Amino acid sequence: MLNKEKGSLYLYNIGQLVTMAGGPRKGASAMGDLAIIEGPAVLVIEDGIVTFAGKQSDGPCPKEQGMEFVDAQGQCVLPGFIDSHTHLVFGGYREDEFQWRLAGESYMSIMERGGGIASTTKATRAASFEELSEHAKKHLDAMLRMGVTTAEAKSGYGMDRDTEIRQLEVIRHLDETHPISLYPTYMGAHDTPVEYKGRPHDYIDFIIREMLPLVKEKDLAECVDIFTEKNVFEHEDTRRLLNAAKELGFKVKMHADEIVPIGGAELAAELGCLSADHLLKISDEGIKALATSETVATCLPLTAFSLMDDYAPARKMIDAGCCVAVASDLNPGSCFSASIPLLIALSTIYMKMTVEETIAALTINAAKAINRQDKVGSLEVGKAGDAVILRYPSYKFLSYHFGMNLVDTTIKSGKLYKY
Ligand code: NIG
Ligand code: FE
Repeated sequence: MLNKEKGSLYLYNIGQLVTMAGGPRKGASAMGDLAIIEGPAVLVIEDGIVTFAGKQSDGPCPKEQGMEFVDAQGQCVLPGFIDSHTHLVFGGYREDEFQWRLAGESYMSIMERGGGIASTTKATRAASFEELSEHAKKHLDAMLRMGVTTAEAKSGYGMDRDTEIRQLEVIRHLDETHPISLYPTYMGAHDTPVEYKGRPHDYIDFIIREMLPLVKEKDLAECVDIFTEKNVFEHEDTRRLLNAAKELGFKVKMHADEIVPIGGAELAAELGCLSADHLLKISDEGIKALATSETVATCLPLTAFSLMDDYAPARKMIDAGCCVAVASDLNPGSCFSASIPLLIALSTIYMKMTVEETIAALTINAAKAINRQDKVGSLEVGKAGDAVILRYPSYKFLSYHFGMNLVDTTIKSGKLYKY
């Protein structure tokens, strides 16, 4: 991240300050604890970094110089939301496909007849750097309005050398120019491209031989992801790719157990993935494996909703002791939405997570899913001054006033974005 604007802010008269202090949370009792400071509270951010978060009566004297003073008017303040799984950069849309799915056709059958990821790949290969970044910027603007201050962004709609690099360069450009910070993930192994049709092992060889070293040399990604799914990439290819990625110093993660249960969660835990994502079809063994590992279980309920499929068993995973995160999975196919209000509604109403667990899943646990738990996800001294001011005095309104954007102001590195 270069040259991001940073501000200094004295935010006072906070009615309820949700700090999420104390690190990522595993299991129901830890995830239910939001480390709240009841108001009046104050949040002080200097040059983009939190220097105080606590009771107003214990707070430092406000410094006049160069500091913005903002009255929170008794409303609730939380850490900025983290969307830890997005396919932000892509060309074209698939609006017809969505209608076919509504009419009963399955995601995999559309994929098998050349639609799905292949159709977005065609459009992405044809799109310029400017087109890709303009589109992605529009999504980021909307996400910022909903309180997102950090997001993960994957490549994976090029699946050839130049387009994958172009997607990652767009991600870097947006990280440098947009208020939202981006965590870059290389996902060349999103599908097997037409050039390698029927030869997924050869495509993985190409990625290991040519793409991983190139992405590393250009320093364009921190993490490598793969779509581990029956008839896409199975265990052997996943193991080969992610082990090679780890050897080069990348973090790794997986799309796991989304459509057919093939032990993806177990493999993610074994390989030391930052996160295993989707998990709609996770087995009891998979839940146990994640609960006893450092791998975050990332649920993507907007995708389950859009695919009209079952939701991931978030309640069961939390009760078993997993570190659960929730994210949007924004992409032009299985989930064309990055709606934080809908994500919260589905998490609380259909995945049976409490509102407290959902907030932990969208902040500090999501930070762990992108290896940023030391920098973002909680309002603690030394961490990023990323926060949201709600229009209501309690975080509980986030589930109660469902489907509505309750964010009055997003604060990124101490700079205010008021809506
Ligand atoms: O996370 N499952 C694979 N990848 C995406 C969908 C990509 C697409 O349909 O374009 C997902 O759901
Ligand atoms: Fe995804």
